[in-house]
Amino acid sequence: MDQERFLELLQEKKNFIDDALPAKVEALNAQPTLKESMLYSILAGGKRLRPTLLLMTIEAFGKNSKLGLDVACAVEMIHTYSLIHDDLPAMDDDDFRRGSPTNHKIYGEALAILAGDGLLTYAFEVISRSESLDSDTKIDLITHLSNAAGPEGMVDGQVADMDGEGKSLTIEALENIHRKKTGALLGYSIYAGARISGGTKEQMEHLVKFAHYLGLAFQIQDDILDVEGDEDKLGKPIGSDVGNNKSTYPHLLTLLGAKEQLLDVVKEAKRHLHKANIDHSWLEHFTDYMISRDH
Ligand code: IPE
Ligand code: IPE
Ligand code: MG
Ligand code: MG
Ligand code: MG
Repeated sequence: MDQERFLELLQEKKNFIDDALPAKVEALNAQPTLKESMLYSILAGGKRLRPTLLLMTIEAFGKNSKLGLDVACAVEMIHTYSLIHDDLPAMDDDDFRRGSPTNHKIYGEALAILAGDGLLTYAFEVISRSESLDSDTKIDLITHLSNAAGPEGMVDGQVADMDGEGKSLTIEALENIHRKKTGALLGYSIYAGARISGGTKEQMEHLVKFAHYLGLAFQIQDDILDVEGDEDKLGKPIGSDVGNNKSTYPHLLTLLGAKEQLLDVVKEAKRHLHKANIDHSWLEHFTDYMISRDH
């Protein structure tokens, strides 16, 4: 019963984003080819995990999630840009994403790079123009998003990931990569939801720790799926990590070890979530959903 309701909620949030996000790109006064290439990846069928997490966090505080819709769209734009660039020949060189050819396979590398640039920069404009938030909140949200996505966050994680290719990393080094590469943006989604809802310092501290473990769990599962996932369900090729000589959890700990580690990390995530003193039930479901996903 609970699970059914959770899946409905998940769908509801996804629909909310699927309605609002493309409209923002369509409204741009830009070259048709640029808009088309940006929209191609925006509409390619992402799970919308980060914006959903942001909206669910607001609701866990008993607030109206509409308040965070613009910020949720901005986070998904940044996530989508990061995937367009991540798939480029100069990076992971992947041909499929979300079940379709990658952006550069359709539009060429130059336009794919620029579509990514467009999504990245437009995200900040979308937050600054939001009519549902006051200026102080917007400045704080923009500062934290720049930090999470930028050279101390996701971009640094991507570089560390690249530098680690072909090397046998320690678990600590791998964890550090994951924390930045994937954890930073997931963590931001939770932070933004809490900030918009007026969370206290203590609540924020627990939620930041929850986000840390949730991000780690997400990436461990991503690594596991790269080994034993089903390409059709995943919509992206498996074996990409081995092909690119990446250190991954299954590689360092064996598949079984990675799965054990995943359960430990989830336990830690939930422990911190419970301490945040919010209505945690859907976020707890979300945590389980994220690690049981097959795509
Ligand atoms: C995949 O993210 C890439 C990583 C950051 C590991 P998601 O699994 O959230 O991708 P989409 O948005 O649903 O395609
Ligand atoms: C992508 O990580 C992380 C970012 C785009 C920031 P991966 O390279 O592991 O993601 P997939 O496996 O291609 O989705
Ligand atoms: Mg990569
Ligand atoms: Mg990749
Ligand atoms: Mg991966």
